[in-house]
Formats: sequence, C-alpha cells, structure tokens
Amino acid sequence: MTLERTFSIVKPDAVQRNLIGAIYQRIENAGFRIVAAKMLHLTREQAEGFYAEHQGKPFFEKLVNFMTSGPIMVQVLEGENTIAGYRELMGKTNPEEAARGTLRADYAVNHTFNSVHGSDSPESAQREISYFFAADELCDRED
Ligand code: PPS
Repeated sequence: MTLERTFSIVKPDAVQRNLIGAIYQRIENAGFRIVAAKMLHLTREQAEGFYAEHQGKPFFEKLVNFMTSGPIMVQVLEGENTIAGYRELMGKTNPEEAARGTLRADYAVNHTFNSVHGSDSPESAQREISYFFAADELCDRED
C-alpha cells in the first residue's frame, strides 16, 4: 500500500461554529489518519503567502480577509490516495455545486465561507505541508 499525505484546513467559519470535531470525525470515518494538527490565527502575510498563486484574482482580497478573520485548524492527513480522496470528501469549492454528503455540501455557508481546504496535487501538498509544519511535527502512525 502506498501512503500519501495531504494538507487540510478547517477554515474560520467552521471553527467558529464548533465544527472541528464533526469534520475530524468525517475525515477519520473516511479512512484518513491525522498525523499532525494545530490551531493557528493566520497573519495577513501568512495568508497571502499561502494563497500566493491566486494573487490578482478577483476573490483574492475576500479570501485573505476571510482566512485571517479567526482561528483555523491545519492538519496533515495520511492514507491511500489521500490527495484525491480528501478532495472528493470536501466536494466542490462552491457548496451549491458540491455533491450530497460532502463536507462542503453539509457545512459550507457559501463560496467564500466554505469550511475546508485540501491540497490539489502532490506538489501543492508538499508545499502546503512544509508551509505550516516542520518535518519533526509529523507523526509516524503506520501500524
Ligand atoms: S481557481 O481560480 O479555480 O484556481 O480557484 P479555486 O480553486 O476555485 O479557488 C481557490 C481558492 O479561492 C477560494 N475562492 C473564493 N474565495 C472567496 N470568494 C470566491 N468567490 C472564491 N472563489 C474561490 C476557494 O475557496 C479556494 O480556497 P481553498 O482554501 O483552496 O479552498
């Protein structure tokens, strides 16, 4: 079995509504293991750096304002096919388009307050994990 890691965020709208536990439960029920986690309140600089690829897009300011509006949970998930699998569990970015039973269909408020983030490729996963975690913060949870 090839284990893959992805980076995930429980966004400010979900933390504010006490949905951390519910979302973690859904992540674990889907078979992913949390191998690192912490709560952070992003600075503007951290949020702009994290979302640098979207700089210049019409939603950039709104996104940075939202992501710095309150605490978030950041975590690293591990399992089989975790990058694509967790994206599937999240559902589409806009909750109106998200499939039934996905995290965004169930918890997101709108296109901005969409509750969760997940890396979209192995390259993004690597960059995003190392943006928030040092190598020695990742736990080995293999059986
Ligand atoms: S793109 O242009 O297709 O690459 O954008 P997308 O992947 O859909 O979204 C990138 C991140 O921007 C957020 N987003 C928005 N925020 C606020 N308002 C609007 N309209 C909006 N559209 C997209 C979206 O939630 C993505 O954030 P993450 O954290 O990656 O989910």
